[in-house]
Amino acid sequence: MSKKAQQPQEPQQRLPQRKVRFDFKDTPLHWVPNEPEASHIMNTLHILLPAGEFWFCRVYNQAVKQVTDPELREEVRGFIRQEAQHARAHDSALTPYLLRHGIDPKPYTQRLDWLFEKALGDHPLGENALSHWLQTWWLRQRVGLIAAVEHFTCVLGDWIITTRSLDDADPVMLDLLRWHGAEEIEHRCVAHDLHVHLGGSLLARWLYMLIATPMLMFLFSSGSQMMMRQDPRTRYSRGFLSLWAALGKRDLLPPLAGVGRAVLRYFVPSFHPRSEGNIAVAEAYLQQSPAAQRAAAQALPS
Ligand SMILES: [Fe+2]
Ligand SMILES: [Fe+2]
Repeated sequence: MSKKAQQPQEPQQRLPQRKVRFDFKDTPLHWVPNEPEASHIMNTLHILLPAGEFWFCRVYNQAVKQVTDPELREEVRGFIRQEAQHARAHDSALTPYLLRHGIDPKPYTQRLDWLFEKALGDHPLGENALSHWLQTWWLRQRVGLIAAVEHFTCVLGDWIITTRSLDDADPVMLDLLRWHGAEEIEHRCVAHDLHVHLGGSLLARWLYMLIATPMLMFLFSSGSQMMMRQDPRTRYSRGFLSLWAALGKRDLLPPLAGVGRAVLRYFVPSFHPRSEGNIAVAEAYLQQSPAAQRAAAQALPS
């Protein structure tokens, strides 16, 4: 028997990190055919998520030390592994995709760096005795904010894996978004469970949804406007929300009414994310995703 065959099998992780890779060399800027605005709004994810999801990881690397339930601790570690891979995958679109097509995201990324590294960092008002004393409190507030944002990522993820209106879009970009969306559903309970475990109240949940909703709207709006201004082929001439509403009616973006209902569900006292998203569709997609299949094949022992 070979040495490799004698080695014990690694236990299967419930939230595995799939080491996906994407090749964007043939992906057109308007990867949703003839829909520059829908393409740009979704392209905002490639600049927003690397900064935002690495921030999730930094916050959770601190929060995991306070988790006393071993099962939840393992879930939080799985969440960190998956979010780090999401950030890397979207970041990998920067040079071979956005920059190659002449989109320079620097003005936006500088503001994101300020938001996630300074304003939402460990010591937003500077490092001093007070900021050290408030560290645990401040960490728990950020965990509450992440739980609210993760409700959106689950809802948006569910839309991207179930809509049929993007089936003729660029297959590489679609696979990136669908693999990411499916993993958002796979780990949809972790942020909420962590928030509750660390003492997050119903009032805190409401408060952070009231902060997360306009914050995400502003980030999507400013990011997509920055890209559309650099693309003469866009026909952008109206407010961001009315543009989203029009694209949502054609199912080229998540319909606004559905997103609004999802926000309201978060305010129901008995809310739990386990009843959000279609986990069967998500798991089926993760089995058939070309990038996830390549990652699984590479992970097999030779
Ligand atoms: Fe993610
Ligand atoms: Fe997530």
